[in-house]
This record gives sequence, C-alpha cells and structure tokens, in this order.
Amino acid sequence: MTRAIYPGSFDPVTFGHLDIIERSTKIADELIVAVLTNSAKKSLFSIDERVKMLSDLLSGHDNIRVESFGGLLVDFAKENDASFIVRGLRAVTDFEYELQISQMNRTIYSEIDTIFLTTSLEYAYLSSSIVKEVASYGGDISHFVPESIIDMIYDKLRKQRI
Ligand code: PNS
Repeated sequence: MTRAIYPGSFDPVTFGHLDIIERSTKIADELIVAVLTNSAKKSLFSIDERVKMLSDLLSGHDNIRVESFGGLLVDFAKENDASFIVRGLRAVTDFEYELQISQMNRTIYSEIDTIFLTTSLEYAYLSSSIVKEVASYGGDISHFVPESIIDMIYDKLRKQRI
C-alpha cells in the first residue's frame, strides 16, 4: 500500500491544488493532504478553516485524509509512514526552490522521496496569492476556486480591511 502526502498552505485551496490531489490519487493508494499550521507567511484563513474547507471539498473520497501539521514535513511523513511527498510544478521558477526542499527533506529522512506533477496547463499561472490579490479588488475568482469557498474568501478579505 502506498501512502502519499500532499503538503501545502492551501490559503485558500485552488483548482490547481485540487487537480494535483485528484491526479495523486491515481499513483497512491492513500493520500494525506497536509495543511501547514505554522507558516512564516501570515495566512488569511486559520488552520481549522483551511482544514475544513479541504475536508468538505474532498469528503467524497475515502482514500483522502486532510490533516494539519506543524514542524518538519519529514517528521509528519515518518509518523504517517508515507512513501512519498507530492508537489506540483507550475513553471521553471518553482523548480529551484522545490528541488532544494526535496533534497533537504531526503537528506534529513532518506526514506522519503518527492514526486513532482506538472500542473495542468490551465492552472499554470494560478496561486493562492494571486487569488487573494484578485479577490481583494473585487475581481471574479470563479475560474480559480470552487464556488463553495468564493464568498468565504471575499468575507475574510472584507473583515481584514475593517
Ligand atoms: O503551499 P506552500 O506554502 O508552497 O507549501 C510549503 C510547504 C508546506 C510544503 C513547506 O513550507 C513545508 O514543508 N514546511 C514545513 C517545514 C519543513 O519541513 N520545511 C522543509 C525543510 S527546509
């Protein structure tokens, strides 16, 4: 049985993330979507909100679990007996950082490999930061995130401004 981990901040989850999640379940028997709690970046959504958003969206898949994690990703991978980490690569600009992190992770924990999935072309430009930027100016984000979370994003940004 292969168990994979797809880690990220998911602040908020986008169609790009969901595409990688969907495709990861074709190469792993079980997938843990691991939401980072203690990012250096200030997040728009709390950890509980991000976990709930993903859990609701993925509730129809019994081979996917959504969990939060803090500390080192490799420790979480070890605790969960994961065989590999999945990351999406949108463009060559992602590559250098991702290569460095995957090599670092493998040096700390030699049992773990990272598998990169190239993002589907239609989501190659997409990031959580860009979604927040567009939404903060009242732009249409329906091409980027599931309908069920659109209002949550606008509401959060509105409250942040008050
Ligand atoms: O969605 P993101 O913000 O690009 O995800 C980054 C993430 C969560 C994969 C990365 O920041 C991470 O693994 N953080 C946990 C701490 C860690 O293990 N860092 C890598 C060793 S330097």
